[in-house]
Amino acid sequence: MIEDIVKQLEPLPSKSKLIIFGGGYSGQKIASVGRHLGAKVLCSRRKKGSKGADFIFDSDREFSNEICEGVTHVLSCIPPLLSGEDPVLSKLKTKLLNSKNLKWVGYLSTTGVYGDTKGTWVNENTCPNPQQGRSIRRFSCEKEWLETRLPVQILRLPGIYGPGRSAFESLLNGTVKMIDKPGQVFSRIHVDDIAGAVLFLINLYSQGKNPTVVNVADDLPTNNLEVIDYAAKLANKPLPSKVPFEIAKTTMSPMALSFWKENRKVDNNLLCKKLGYSLIYPNFKSGLKNCFSQLKLN
Ligand SMILES: NC(=O)c1ccc[n+]([C@@H]2O[C@H](COP(=O)([O-])OP(=O)(O)OC[C@H]3O[C@@H](n4cnc5c(N)ncnc54)[C@H](OP(=O)(O)O)[C@@H]3O)[C@@H](O)[C@H]2O)c1
Repeated sequence: MIEDIVKQLEPLPSKSKLIIFGGGYSGQKIASVGRHLGAKVLCSRRKKGSKGADFIFDSDREFSNEICEGVTHVLSCIPPLLSGEDPVLSKLKTKLLNSKNLKWVGYLSTTGVYGDTKGTWVNENTCPNPQQGRSIRRFSCEKEWLETRLPVQILRLPGIYGPGRSAFESLLNGTVKMIDKPGQVFSRIHVDDIAGAVLFLINLYSQGKNPTVVNVADDLPTNNLEVIDYAAKLANKPLPSKVPFEIAKTTMSPMALSFWKENRKVDNNLLCKKLGYSLIYPNFKSGLKNCFSQLKLN
């Protein structure tokens, strides 16, 4: 519920104008919270008529940057291009550098930049060691944003889940797989907490609490089997048998395989202890309960 996110946040200063490049799953939720906090928010999508498209931004097409007039806050939720370029900086760097009122620029990145740590914890002081092509491109875009010297804050996200994007979808359509890889964990974050954390960080930034990189993850990195098992109990669905990873990997897509190659736990102490953000869904159990309640509503 949007009210659960908004209630612990401060309103944004009057005349705040937040432009979100990439109004997809997270972008739309962040836009909605930003509007509740009093900002004018404009969200991009690539196709005219897409849900929540306030304007069109597509790296393949010309872009008229008038939309950026008077912008105070910018958030990019768009991944790097295959060429490694950042789509927003490629088109708008000069415009942003000349935007006099810009107070905060957020970039949604990924904890994939830390690479594989064999299951140990990573925090913002851990030296990035991206190993997958997409994580190497991501780390390069992070650096490109920081080199602009704009008031940039990098938010590193682990697996995003929430209503419509959780263990329930594969469980209910019969495609769920119980892949068994002992010792493997994944960190995750509920989309409501991405939105909550973004707006929380925007307000702190203006008070001088402005770390350059913040991990936005929940408290409990967990093995995938535990997550699916809990979802099945909530939905009262039977589970298929476990499949050892060594067998499952023979039919996995390269993308899926790349996720299983890396094992790390993402530490959220900076966001939750030092900066004081209170997670709405501190672990997969509370988050899945929320996803399940939304399923029943639909
Ligand atoms: N999904 C995860 O588990 C995960 C984990 C860590 C980090 N991330 C990163 O966090 C960010 C937000 O994730 P999300 O899952 O909310 O993203 P999402 O739903 O996939 O949305 C991505 C947005 O970027 C836009 N976009 C993509 N390529 C573009 C291009 N070449 N030119 C212009 N716009 C483009 C999409 O446009 P349309 O709306 O037109 O499709 C969409 O609005 C992304 O950068 C993602 O890579 C994701």
